[in-house]
Amino acid sequence: MALIALLPGDGIGPEVITQARRVLDALDLDLTYEEVPVGGVAYHTLGHPLPESTLDVARRADALLFGAVGDPTCDNLERSLRPEQAILGLRKHLGLFSNLRPATLFEGLEDASALKPEVARQIDLVIVRELNGDVYFGEKGRRVRPDGAREGYDIMSYDEHEVRRIARVGFETARKRRGQLCSVDKANVLETSQLWRDVVIEVAADYPDVTLSHMYVDNAAMQLVRNPGQFDVIVTGNLFGDILSDQASMCAGSIGMLPSASLDDAGKGLYEPIHGSAPDIAGQGKANPCAAILSAALMLRHSLGQAAAADRIEAAVARAIRDGARTADLGGTMTTSAMGDAVLGVL
Ligand code: IPM
Ligand code: MG
Repeated sequence: MALIALLPGDGIGPEVITQARRVLDALDLDLTYEEVPVGGVAYHTLGHPLPESTLDVARRADALLFGAVGDPTCDNLERSLRPEQAILGLRKHLGLFSNLRPATLFEGLEDASALKPEVARQIDLVIVRELNGDVYFGEKGRRVRPDGAREGYDIMSYDEHEVRRIARVGFETARKRRGQLCSVDKANVLETSQLWRDVVIEVAADYPDVTLSHMYVDNAAMQLVRNPGQFDVIVTGNLFGDILSDQASMCAGSIGMLPSASLDDAGKGLYEPIHGSAPDIAGQGKANPCAAILSAALMLRHSLGQAAAADRIEAAVARAIRDGARTADLGGTMTTSAMGDAVLGVL
């Protein structure tokens, strides 16, 4: 029996995870759950955003279903105690280096997209984002220069092994889709990016069936809103992937619709909506649970070998949306649990 670590976290995290759990329960799968605190709530109760007890369960679990972290009351804590460190710590401790963020427009949400409907309709892409390196994990700090000016710094770096393993995930993902991989970097300015590009080109030799292209990140940001249909799979570093995936989500309708998978090299994964904790609407029943529900589907597919159950969940969400189910982010009035009901109703 597979063990799922449930990490609802902060803000709207618990509300959306509750709905994901209802959907999983309805499928009668052989799963057990252990729920553990993470983020601001863990800091407030146990003194650390990623307590050792939470990490233990995360290590033992076959997969992790994660809500969101982020708590404004923690904004002035020293960085190592802030809620965001919990997700960064889980990614690092568990070796979850590859982040898959699919962005597709659900039929019926053309008007929710920030783009013109005929442009939005073309979106069907996956962003493969590296998660264990880059400027996120380099040396960082503050110093005072000899002239007395304060300075902050964060070192950006990638080694070739890190680039090679994420490039492979990019090529493999493209191979299973339309066979087009676009590597996004900033090689015209950054040495880290030049190495990235060199290594991606080397790896391409093993994937003659995939068409590789390269794009600078500024141009990629522009192309994503100009003509998102040109992308199949995008592979990029941690920082660029963070930014581009939020952008892609708005092109696809709402950040409340998009799930993500963060995987190690053995099939274990952490599954989370790409949205944050949204403290402004927390506890009001306004959050869209679809991204969390779709994250549960990704979990079934990528870590638990239950592709058919994953397909059923995805089809149920698509159908509920097509039938007009809408939370506030989609221009509707449904509560979080009513949206859960709508998906369960189809299932
Ligand atoms: C994300 C989030 C995180 C990130 C934050 C919460 C640390 O924005 O998963 O995209 O920057 O990776
Ligand atoms: Mg982000």
